Amino acid sequence: MLAAHVRSIYGLKVLKRKHKTLRKLEKEDRVPTLHGHQVWQSSYLVMDYLHQRPLAIGQRIMDIGCGWGLLGIYCAKYLGGKVQLVDADSRVFPYASFHQQLNEVSVQIVHSSFEQLKHADFTQQDVVLGADICFWPQLFTQLKLLIATALAAGVRKIIIADPGRPTFMQLADYCRHNFTCELCPWELGGRTKTAGYLLIIDNHRGLKPG
Ligand SMILES: C[S@@+](CC[C@H](N)C(=O)[O-])C[C@H]1O[C@@H](n2cnc3c(N)ncnc32)[C@H](O)[C@@H]1O
Repeated sequence: MLAAHVRSIYGLKVLKRKHKTLRKLEKEDRVPTLHGHQVWQSSYLVMDYLHQRPLAIGQRIMDIGCGWGLLGIYCAKYLGGKVQLVDADSRVFPYASFHQQLNEVSVQIVHSSFEQLKHADFTQQDVVLGADICFWPQLFTQLKLLIATALAAGVRKIIIADPGRPTFMQLADYCRHNFTCELCPWELGGRTKTAGYLLIIDNHRGLKPG
């Protein structure tokens, strides 16, 4: 039985707006400022994909632009992942920490922007995930560099989900020309009818020549 104002989705406990913890953080004026104020549907697109095509157990996974961290928390809970949650906005961390405890997993929380992440930050990672993180032109520029850095450091797979914003489509186009990747339309069943795209970049074939 779920506690008051908690819902269950993809086997995770997620706070509803009326939950006292959310109301308290809002009252204290600790509302995230870079759109990390809720769980975005793109997170569920990646969870759905991973539910259908699970990663090997125990992968080292970085959830970039994690917001409340539910995507990374899903990976820790259901894929045995060793997870790092990364975000530029430290205001998301109380929300991520609370959900970590609520879902009884342990993840590492890292305060960093995309552009601050360097080669050494990716050498200990197998997979990089991101949900709804490419919504401004400067994020397109930062993510282009991040993807190249992560692949050069040996990250094996990168998955970025998005509803299909122009900046994300631009990133997908860039990746199609520079890396071996696919852009998959993805839809969730159920009442929400959420649809979007998954940009999946695999590193085993590496950079395209030329
Ligand atoms: C639309 S929210 C998505 C949050 C989460 N991935 C989800 O699906 O619920 C975008 C997230 O990216 C973070 N973000 C924005 N710009 C960033 C940057 N330059 N570096 C790292 N994180 C950033 C925001 O703080 C926010 O948590």
